[in-house]
Amino acid sequence: MSKFFILFGNTVALSKLEFEAIYPQFPLTDLGDHLFTFTSAVDLSKEMISTLGGVVKIFKVVAEFEQNITDQKLIEEIVAFLLKQSDEPYFTFSQIGKGQRSISNAELKALIKENGKKARYFASQLSESALLSHQDKAIELLSYHHQETGKLLLAQITAVQDIDDWTKRDRQKPYADRKKGMLPPKVARMMVNIALGFWRENNLNKATNTDQALLYDPFCGTGTILLEAAMRGLNVYGSDLDQEAVFGSRDNLSWLKQEYKLNVKDQIFYMDASHLDLSQFTNQVDLLVSEPFLGRQTPDDSELANIFKGLEKMYLGSFKSFASILSNKAMIVIVLPQVSTAKRIYSLLGLIDKLKAKGYNLLVDPVPYAREGARVTRQICLFRFNRQT
Ligand SMILES: C[S@@+](CC[C@H](N)C(=O)[O-])C[C@H]1O[C@@H](n2cnc3c(N)ncnc32)[C@H](O)[C@@H]1O
Repeated sequence: MSKFFILFGNTVALSKLEFEAIYPQFPLTDLGDHLFTFTSAVDLSKEMISTLGGVVKIFKVVAEFEQNITDQKLIEEIVAFLLKQSDEPYFTFSQIGKGQRSISNAELKALIKENGKKARYFASQLSESALLSHQDKAIELLSYHHQETGKLLLAQITAVQDIDDWTKRDRQKPYADRKKGMLPPKVARMMVNIALGFWRENNLNKATNTDQALLYDPFCGTGTILLEAAMRGLNVYGSDLDQEAVFGSRDNLSWLKQEYKLNVKDQIFYMDASHLDLSQFTNQVDLLVSEPFLGRQTPDDSELANIFKGLEKMYLGSFKSFASILSNKAMIVIVLPQVSTAKRIYSLLGLIDKLKAKGYNLLVDPVPYAREGARVTRQICLFRFNRQT
């Protein structure tokens, strides 16, 4: 068994839920500072990083040192490890967990030089991924001090998020409409994975292959969720009340399929989510993943009561309508808006009880997600649909 460290991005709660949904066989232990650990007999880090939206880096533990190791001995061990990897290591070293003497890259380089070898190092924030993604020869090391056991674990990077690829899907797709509040692709991927992972739990017999689940986004906008679902090999339905968004999402999916050579089916149509036209759906929907209309992005306080009344009506109408196209035990991952003023919090969390009566059962506490400076924040909710007889 090997021990791994996994570093999540800014949305730790959502990233953790995504990991647990897709890899339930690897229970996570929280080490603080966005860092978690798990053990595994096989190294799945490359697969994990390309599957999950919420992971920045994965490290494998390569050595464990006892509490009483001296600073000098530790530095020698790190240098010996680097020189085992390369005659002229190109490296960076960072530390996490309190109670360690700070060891600098320069200090390590100096000792390598004393050994008669050359070395170069690069400065890297632990949370940065761009620098390393295309530098195969770069060695990134991390030491973690375990408070309870006093042990010090040395770990080497095994996988890093391909930030250029995420940026490409965010920035290079042909249709964008930033006024509408497009989801970041990583958040969309996490939402898709959460729905897919929980759906598999109940559909183990038929779900050895992910493409057997059909995903629908009834408020697809520019199609961010549809694109990330297609990246996971899912067939998708999408719809929107805005004809431009329908054409735009179709263009974006064609671009994606060509760019990534994907062979998935998609159907995107013009439709009101609260009055679904059932004739468009030839198959039942297993995963409904969506970021619906969240109201105006910068509402005035005086308008909020009315806005939320309208939103509640639209959400309820939509959920009522979804029941006719969902398969039994379908998973729903959906964004509910929230706005805080000095006086009160406006949200749609009150809907959760009403939805239960319609067969939608909330599975985990809503996960908050907010972009920096945004007035309207989001609560990401996970429901399982149980068809009522
Ligand atoms: C917040 S945007 C979705 C953005 C999308 N997640 C993206 O990343 O591009 C909400 C979308 O819902 C659509 N919409 C609003 N009311 C609708 C309704 N009743 N039925 C279907 N779509 C609706 C809007 O046209 C808009 O494209």
